[in-house]
Amino acid sequence: MFTLAQPYLTNQKLMPVTAKGLEGIVANSTSLSDVLGQEGILIYAGYDINEIAGNASFEETVHLLWHGELPNSSQLDALCKKLRASRELPQPVVDFLRNAPKNAGPMDVIRTAVSMLGLYDSNPKDESPEANYNRAISITAKISVITAYFHRARNGQDLPPVRTDLGEAAHFLYLINGTEPTVEAARTLDVAYVLHADHGMNASTFSARVTIATLSDMYSAITSAIGTLKGPLHGGANEGVIHMLKEIGSEDKVDAWVEAQLEQKKKIMGIGHRVYKVLDPRAPRLREMAIILSNQLGEPKWIRMSERIASIMKERKGLNANVDFYSATVYYSMGIPTDLFTPVFAIARTAGWTGHVMEQLADNRLYRPLSEYTGPAVGKKFQPIDGRP
Ligand SMILES: CC(C)(COP(=O)(O)OP(=O)(O)OC[C@H]1O[C@@H](n2cnc3c(N)ncnc32)[C@H](O)[C@@H]1OP(=O)(O)O)[C@@H](O)C(=O)NCCC(=O)NCCS
Repeated sequence: MFTLAQPYLTNQKLMPVTAKGLEGIVANSTSLSDVLGQEGILIYAGYDINEIAGNASFEETVHLLWHGELPNSSQLDALCKKLRASRELPQPVVDFLRNAPKNAGPMDVIRTAVSMLGLYDSNPKDESPEANYNRAISITAKISVITAYFHRARNGQDLPPVRTDLGEAAHFLYLINGTEPTVEAARTLDVAYVLHADHGMNASTFSARVTIATLSDMYSAITSAIGTLKGPLHGGANEGVIHMLKEIGSEDKVDAWVEAQLEQKKKIMGIGHRVYKVLDPRAPRLREMAIILSNQLGEPKWIRMSERIASIMKERKGLNANVDFYSATVYYSMGIPTDLFTPVFAIARTAGWTGHVMEQLADNRLYRPLSEYTGPAVGKKFQPIDGRP
């Protein structure tokens, strides 16, 4: 809910509107994606997300977000070649990943490494749309390599050279595990990437746009976005789901655990959404994949516990499961370490972030909202330090 405040700046053209968390405020326009919260629809450039997920690959989705159209085969081929040719990291970034503290949070390491990429840009002064397009390709291609290399380095494993014969999802799984993934595993992750690639004016995308709108640079914008995605109210919720399931432990404890959380007014991770007031349209496909994977791996208890939590929350609070609720079980079942769930989200969302950065630059206006001052009225007199209480 937002309320109209009294206008308090006489030179302001518009009536100031107070909206905590900017809820209900339209801050810009975008042709990349739209979130219809009441209907539970997510649109990528004219396509319902469920028309795209499972039909188009992540690379096709990247093209859709960056160009507004799905690619034809020669356009897709060109994009894939560019992405694959951009995977190799600058040596100092590899050295940093090898030497970063082994217990560092992966999101912190990724944020720092993406920021470092800016130091090795061959022509940082070139702000042309072509240069920024190449940066979008470079960051999108490298962020998954950064994630996988850090994961291997912290486990004392070697860092295999990047390959150019695998798609984005398959290549990430190859780097993490050191062996080629099954077609099924690569496809599952690819669908998860597609479902996470963009999502309207979410907090991290907004951060990226705020940063680039100062005419900063693409690396700074994506670094801001990664820092924003890290929080448990945004991308960090998927990790929280697995911690929650492990803490509960078994199916018979679910009801009492959820009741206790609700009594203490604690948030259940993976439930609720700022914009969707009906089912998150990304959840059903992830739920489907989570059911198949949990059963295949012989650990159906996780999905059964999840289903019970979702049904209690629907019944008790009228809240639905969101994208993180089932993606957590999907990644867990695929053997992706829990603290890489948010990084996987970041890898996919880089497609959207970079697309939004390019869109912001094409029609830029600095973001500068107002704030409602709640401090004491002006008029206090300065006291030298000795005279202060
Ligand atoms: C996403 C989120 C921040 C949206 O918050 P929001 O817009 O402030 O939520 P709402 O205003 O719709 O909340 C309405 C009510 O539901 C409660 N609620 C919302 N999400 C809840 C959750 N996950 N668990 C328990 N209660 C929840 C609120 O406390 C509020 O209760 P009240 O009316 O008794 O005070 C919130 O749902 C949340 O923290 N979810 C868990 C984290 C998560 O999964 N994030 C990923 C989002 S994709």
